[in-house]
Amino acid sequence: MKKILEMLTEEMAKAFEKAGYDGALGKVTLSNRPDLCEYQCNGAMAGAKQYKKAPIIIAEEVADQLADSKVFGEVTAVAPGFLNLKVSEAFLLSYLEEMEADAKFGLEMPEKPKKIIIDYGGANVAKPLHVGHIRAAVIGESIKRICRYAGHEVIGDVHLGDWGLQMGLVITGLQDRQPDLVYFDETYQGEYPTEAPFTISELEEIYPAASAKSKEDPEYKARAMEATRKLQSGVPGYRALWKHILAVSVADLKKNYGSLNVEFDLWKGESDVHDLIPDMVAYMKEEGYAHESEGALVVDVKEETDTKEIPPCMILKSDGASLYNTTDLATILERMNLYHPDAIIYVVDKRQDLYFEQVFRCARKTRLVKPETELKFLGFGTMNGKDGKPFKTREGGVMRLENLIRETKDEMYQKIIEGRHIPEEEAKQVAEIVAVSALKYGDLSNQASKDYIFDIDRFTSFEGDTGPYILYTIVRIKSILTKYKEQGGNLSEVSLKAAQNESEKALMLQLTQFNAMMAAACEETAPHKVCAYIYDLANAFNHFYHETKILGEEDASRKAGLIALLVLTRDILETCIDVLGFSAPERM
Ligand code: ARG
Repeated sequence: MKKILEMLTEEMAKAFEKAGYDGALGKVTLSNRPDLCEYQCNGAMAGAKQYKKAPIIIAEEVADQLADSKVFGEVTAVAPGFLNLKVSEAFLLSYLEEMEADAKFGLEMPEKPKKIIIDYGGANVAKPLHVGHIRAAVIGESIKRICRYAGHEVIGDVHLGDWGLQMGLVITGLQDRQPDLVYFDETYQGEYPTEAPFTISELEEIYPAASAKSKEDPEYKARAMEATRKLQSGVPGYRALWKHILAVSVADLKKNYGSLNVEFDLWKGESDVHDLIPDMVAYMKEEGYAHESEGALVVDVKEETDTKEIPPCMILKSDGASLYNTTDLATILERMNLYHPDAIIYVVDKRQDLYFEQVFRCARKTRLVKPETELKFLGFGTMNGKDGKPFKTREGGVMRLENLIRETKDEMYQKIIEGRHIPEEEAKQVAEIVAVSALKYGDLSNQASKDYIFDIDRFTSFEGDTGPYILYTIVRIKSILTKYKEQGGNLSEVSLKAAQNESEKALMLQLTQFNAMMAAACEETAPHKVCAYIYDLANAFNHFYHETKILGEEDASRKAGLIALLVLTRDILETCIDVLGFSAPERM
């Protein structure tokens, strides 16, 4: 189905042509003076020079051609030559009817859907998730859902940090605590226990202690590096222990991600590509892409057009060890082999921008990807506290995601029980749902690349540009629909009617923008566009609601028309929050 602006532009182009002008001048845009009109066309201004005519003359001639347009209800030529436009109620109604009948509300599906991999978790095994991971999870999940909704095939991969020094540190820390574990007995031949010799809380204690110790004690660090080496070279006890670490950690991660409605299709990690590295390195050497530099193996990636220094991409360290780069390159290789994606999108902290530039250039230069494969870095900004510095706990420590979620839920619960008569158990459940909207909307409503301030008070407010406000609006609609049914109304028997007042028409116009908005949000990987849209839509709805008698309407046919409009508004709002990754309760 065509976007409404395309249909308006076509109608306008025909009018320009009929008046003897170039149809290309008929571009219609949203009005930047909504107090005067709904849409506008500035083509007469643009054509004035070409046709050596006063723009107002052209505008008037075009307006004359539209006198009995079925699409435009009002066309006014205004000085110096603008066309101010209002659509006809009948056209608006027919557009919405067509949207309503379409499963995707008129969003056109791609002729050739793309296969997209989104790399967006980045959690590190044995380390608790911190607020830095919230952005990757929340933004990545939303982009995955938006692109899927728009008809593409999308695979989300958590890409765990599960193979580096942090693993050696945990193993060393464990060895000091429990030196007698069979895993450390290199002569052991039997089966290893199926139960992990630690819990998630122990694991979370071990890593920070070991990491701190390795910073002060070079000998300890050397032991951790040796443990890493043993793990990576396949020493059975180390591998078995690592599997326990991975399993315990992943179970905990799934719980945490789950509480944010974040789901990955693939739970792969850096370790998965370990075995691909030797062949990949050999290939890069043989083809002459990689060369030695100060003992290390590197691929030059600078280009003539560079305005800043882009250092070579390091493939192996001077001691032959692989690096973060190496696993990322091998992961690209593996993804190309297994999934043949058209695009890989990385949702990672924007401070890794230069790093990904190097990796992408290296992958292209060494032909790990096809020339047409899109590699996209979607760098996000920092979540800051009210002091403008990266968000911390009250004590100044790193805030754990779990605690952040809990605090938001507590705050939401307080707000829900204040002045509302809702049973405690239900209030708790509702608080959980609404808290997720508060966190996610607070994040997603900002352009991803920008830093933002985490303001729990504002994010959990029922007023303003917030998740709870959107949910509140949806719940309001649901409650009207419930009452309509209680009065004997049937939602499957209602049908849309032409708008009868300004606020109703404004709501209908806002609904027509859904498909163009969603196409742009997918194209530009921009969830903030969905947020901006539903905020406007919720405002348009609430304005309409305050101006219009709905349940009290006496004319049954008009009442059914209003109810149909509510159903469509609810469906579009719910579709939007679903792609943002949260849902609405039945009441709140
Ligand atoms: N584990 C990394 C970190 O915590 C993020 C991984 C991002 N993805 C990637 N393919 N490098 O910084």
